[in-house]
Amino acid sequence: MSENDLHAHLLHLRETLRYHSYLYYVLASPTISDYEYDRLYQELLSIEREHPEWITPDSPSQRVGTEPSEKFEKVAHPAPILSLGNAFNFSDVEAWLERIAKVDERVLNTDFTLEPKLDGLSVVLHYRDGYFVQGATRGNGEIGEDITPNLRTIQSLPLKIPVQKPGEKKVTSKPPPYLVVRGEAFFFLDEFAKLNQRLEEAGEKTYVNPRNTASGTLRQLDPQLTATRPLAILIYQVVHAEGEVPQTQWETLEFLKAMGFPVPQASLHRSLPEIEPKLAIWAQKRSSLNFEIDGMVIKVNDHALFQDLGVVGKDPRGAVAYKFPAQEVSTVLLDIGVNVGRTGVLTPYAILDPVEIGGVTVRQATLHNFDYLVEKDIRIGDRVMLKRAGDVIPYVIGPVVEARTGSEKPFTPPAVCPSCGEPVENIEGEVAWYCINPSCPAQLVRTLEHFVSRGALDIVGLGIKIVEQLVDEGLVKDPADLYTLKRDDLMRLEGFAEKKADNLLESISASKDQPLSRFLTALGIRGVGEVMANDLTKVYKDLDQLSNTSLEDLVTIEGVGPNIAQAIVDWFSRKSNRKLLEKFKAAGFWPVAARDEISDHPQVLTGLVFVITGTLSVPRGEIKSLIEKYGGKVTGSVSKNTDYLLAGENAGSKLEKATDLGVKVLNEDDLKALVG
Ligand code: IVH
Repeated sequence: MSENDLHAHLLHLRETLRYHSYLYYVLASPTISDYEYDRLYQELLSIEREHPEWITPDSPSQRVGTEPSEKFEKVAHPAPILSLGNAFNFSDVEAWLERIAKVDERVLNTDFTLEPKLDGLSVVLHYRDGYFVQGATRGNGEIGEDITPNLRTIQSLPLKIPVQKPGEKKVTSKPPPYLVVRGEAFFFLDEFAKLNQRLEEAGEKTYVNPRNTASGTLRQLDPQLTATRPLAILIYQVVHAEGEVPQTQWETLEFLKAMGFPVPQASLHRSLPEIEPKLAIWAQKRSSLNFEIDGMVIKVNDHALFQDLGVVGKDPRGAVAYKFPAQEVSTVLLDIGVNVGRTGVLTPYAILDPVEIGGVTVRQATLHNFDYLVEKDIRIGDRVMLKRAGDVIPYVIGPVVEARTGSEKPFTPPAVCPSCGEPVENIEGEVAWYCINPSCPAQLVRTLEHFVSRGALDIVGLGIKIVEQLVDEGLVKDPADLYTLKRDDLMRLEGFAEKKADNLLESISASKDQPLSRFLTALGIRGVGEVMANDLTKVYKDLDQLSNTSLEDLVTIEGVGPNIAQAIVDWFSRKSNRKLLEKFKAAGFWPVAARDEISDHPQVLTGLVFVITGTLSVPRGEIKSLIEKYGGKVTGSVSKNTDYLLAGENAGSKLEKATDLGVKVLNEDDLKALVG
């Protein structure tokens, strides 16, 4: 390819990547797989490595990258960044309309938009000729702080507008030469929960609430750190523009959407009475949203009228915030319990006098960690404030000190594990306390729960109740024991009959066909979740390779920092873990990495469906990957869609079923012959 062609290809790649990340992050409806996206992204990186002179700030590779700054520079906003007056019920909203009607009676005959009031951090974004050039906090409304590098890490924030289909010549709407917009940055609640889970697993302090975390995250001096905390954004206002922009709020939202900005879900209404029932609907909807909203914003739709109405203090007359009642209540903290997690980490939780928040009765709430109790001076017997946001577990905000009677008692963290009674330890530099007893039953239950969970080995039918039974009965002392369970063992358990036992054994056995990445996730190594496990299996094809790797090799992998690398090396060097891996191998469970998308093997098995059963001369994972290498597919159970059953020694019910259905049965040699 000539240099010119290569450069044109690079530009096309960038457009393609921008478009697909728009489909993924803004519209939440991707049309290509993560794998395909990754391939395109890697291609972009490799061209940019060859030609660093071609890198421009709008490249998708430039979301993270700059060095930490010393301090934030000041940015003057092109127009005041206003706030909003509040209404706490519908009469307040009616009173607002009456008030502003005295200023300009046209409001009695105009339309309004209704938008959710996002509970995040207000930010101001500047675009020149369609390129994102600067972003700032609200600050005092006149001057904010320049947080451009941090804002660039927000995946749904377009670095170039309009976002359009790659190669599309017709520009739907040309961006104004200079456009300044305003929106709210926040955390999706599921992302916030995941972030806390990662921190907890790493023994670090968890965050208390999404709003403050969003604010702290955007005010980080190191954008690399910001990039590890996945923020989202919604844009709802044009603050300033050179060039033409719409004349109403409704059209503004349409315009912003057409430019590729993520916008809040809004509605247009001809009068206030039409809005009242909508408020009730949103109040209901609130708890099922994946982000926090603290109210609804009602805005005069017509911009000219909005301007004419003017401003009182910092609040424009043309809009009002209808605030939802806070999802906060007080109740008595009856006691403090301590949970033991999978990694042995001890976490305190509140046992509460049952209380209702937002239609849900709450009996327990998280207390984060022992430091939190000290920080907030939370004592047993205290009246405490509770908060619940979306579907996130409720948390204790703090004590109501004025309500103290003197009988409240400070909590002393346990010196021994509440489950096994062994002494607990604190690792230097971490806030968490750990139970380090490898055979602690509470940890084992959590370990197994994780091992069989959906994102890990996905063993259907093995719920928490059965896990507890298996541990209580001493049938399972580590996850590898699952693979040597016998029907008779299970029949001893309460509630088990032959059928249930067989089904469970079948689904345990089927899990042997899971790819290496899932097995790695299941092992529960600190810092190795689904994404990291996937990244690792791109480099390491089996556990032998991974267990013999070094810190130096690990840190060369993107996303693997020194802490995770150390955790991996430590895990594989521990004797108990090596023994565990030997047990898996002996049980015939030794998965290898899933087949690479591009295979240099002749695809002679394309379209053929295999099922594997019985004891084979090599681990099942190896046979599975062999079949896949040649284009075949391996499934867990025999059906009329199965083409071949590969049967080893002692093949049981699957062999019978295959014979019944007339499915061809192969041995290992037959398979080898088939692939030549
Ligand atoms: S409009 C003139 N719309 O709420 C424009 N604000 O309590 C005034 N907020 O500072 C703001 N969602 O940070 C507007 N859909 C929305 C909003 C919204 C959240 C925030 C904004 C503002 C605060 C006022």
